[in-house]
Amino acid sequence: MKRILDKKQLSADVFRMKIEAPLIAEERKAGQFLIIQVDQNYGERIPLTIANADAEEGFIEIIFQAVGATTQKLSRMNAGDYIENVLGPLGKPTHIEKRDGPVVCVGGGIGVAPMHPIVEAHHKIGNKVITIMGARNKELLIMEDEMRALSDELIICTDDGSYGRKDLVTVPLKELCESENIPSEVFAIGPPIMMKFCSETTRPFAVPTMVSLNTIMVDGTGMCGGCRVSIGNETKFVCVDGPEFDGHLVDFDNMMLRQKAYKQHEAHRCNLDIE
Ligand code: FES
Repeated sequence: MKRILDKKQLSADVFRMKIEAPLIAEERKAGQFLIIQVDQNYGERIPLTIANADAEEGFIEIIFQAVGATTQKLSRMNAGDYIENVLGPLGKPTHIEKRDGPVVCVGGGIGVAPMHPIVEAHHKIGNKVITIMGARNKELLIMEDEMRALSDELIICTDDGSYGRKDLVTVPLKELCESENIPSEVFAIGPPIMMKFCSETTRPFAVPTMVSLNTIMVDGTGMCGGCRVSIGNETKFVCVDGPEFDGHLVDFDNMMLRQKAYKQHEAHRCNLDIE
């Protein structure tokens, strides 16, 4: 069992939670995720990416959106409560290497949370990092101060123009690809549609582009088959073979179609209305 040390509500349904987990904090690397089982009575296991960790203090942090039955239950827990199981770190770590040109990290919505350790890792080895953060509006932006501290340049986009540029994240990404400062590598994490269009933006420029498909995982064990994706016409399992893949090879349309299949089941569990 793991003790919750702190909980903060970042927006209407997004929460940041600090969990005591010294071994995970020591071992985790950028790109890796956890499997969380909130309690014994309701045994669903959900994958969540590690947003931050402190090996000296012995804690990890997760940022999650309360959109499903388990994340809603987790959001009702508080400092001092215990989470039944926190398993990790799992998944292949992000490949980080010294680059000559800038590394561009694009985080959309809550995708900024799993992007944080990647930005941190590139910053640590001395890569020039340009971070692009996008959200529907100012209230939904997360981790701005932390990302600003780790980035050589931070570009913020909101859909409604309430903060930063009124643009989709693909607009500044394209500008960077067209500039003399062409990215040496791009990472994109966010809604599948955003990752798809980031990959399409960089494709004509042949800029290597990695995406994290963590949102399609179900139990994260390699057994349920729910995270099957087509990568360059080969079937891969996100939880075992990923979660990061070459964005230019991902069949996003197929992935988005399959994600819709879970919507009704999840809504049934949560008693939510879906379109
Ligand atoms: Fe179940 Fe990957 S999440 S097999």
